[in-house]
Amino acid sequence: MPASDPAAVGVRSLRFRWRARDPDVLALDRLEIARGQRVFLAGPSGSGKTSLLSLVAGVLVPSSGTVEVLGTALKTLSAARWDAFRTRHIGMVFQMFNLLPYLSLLENVLLACRFSEARLRRAAPEGRSPAEEARRLLESLDLDPEALAGRPVARLSIGQQRRVAVARALIGRPEIILCDEPTSALDADRRRAFVDLLFREVEAAGATLIFASHDLRLAPLFDRVVELREASVPAPERSPCR
Ligand SMILES: Nc1ncnc2c1ncn2[C@@H]1O[C@H](COP(=O)(O)OP(=O)(O)O)[C@@H](O)[C@H]1O
Ligand SMILES: [Mg+2]
Repeated sequence: MPASDPAAVGVRSLRFRWRARDPDVLALDRLEIARGQRVFLAGPSGSGKTSLLSLVAGVLVPSSGTVEVLGTALKTLSAARWDAFRTRHIGMVFQMFNLLPYLSLLENVLLACRFSEARLRRAAPEGRSPAEEARRLLESLDLDPEALAGRPVARLSIGQQRRVAVARALIGRPEIILCDEPTSALDADRRRAFVDLLFREVEAAGATLIFASHDLRLAPLFDRVVELREASVPAPERSPCR
């Protein structure tokens, strides 16, 4: 049975390799992320950041060891039940934003609620509609859904698509938000502004944030830095200077 208030993410003796005969790309003996923490996942390109986020999301399966999300071990659920669990509890912003090109901004955001009753309910607090909540999120991320209405997402800039992907990850307040290099194409000012917006919404939702980036300049903004090294011997944790 899960404990009454389990950690957001718990990792034990985790090893991951792409093929049985390949070396491990990730070896993490222990990682515990408390609820509400904002974690900066650092490490050079190839150190396993995307792999670790995918393992937490259950998109990849550990070669050995366990990954628990909110006290539920991934391997105890069938693929179908894990999909339902992930849709309900995890919002993801991956490098390819995975927006559906033929849907509008609003429809793309609302997609996250379509497969989860719980997120649909939480996206409509106090009699408001999920569409109103989607609009509020887009506006808080500095997008104007009215001005951009009718424009297919494929014709938005990368920065705009990124914001749509973030709104989709946040709607219905999933407990855990995973972001993979979401600021990689931004200049320094916009990077900071983007992180501020993200923090504001993550805090309002009481969510846990895991934010992977190779750009250490953002690290001091976070509660905690977890650094992966190449070949994934985890480095000692840095204390972020706040
Ligand atoms: N689909 C894949 N098949 C085989 N190896 C991969 C695949 N994706 C990534 N890798 C390798 O796994 C290692 C970790 O990659 P990744 O998790 O993407 O690191 P990061 O996100 O830190 O750049 C790298 O050596 C990378 O080349
Ligand atoms: Mg990566």
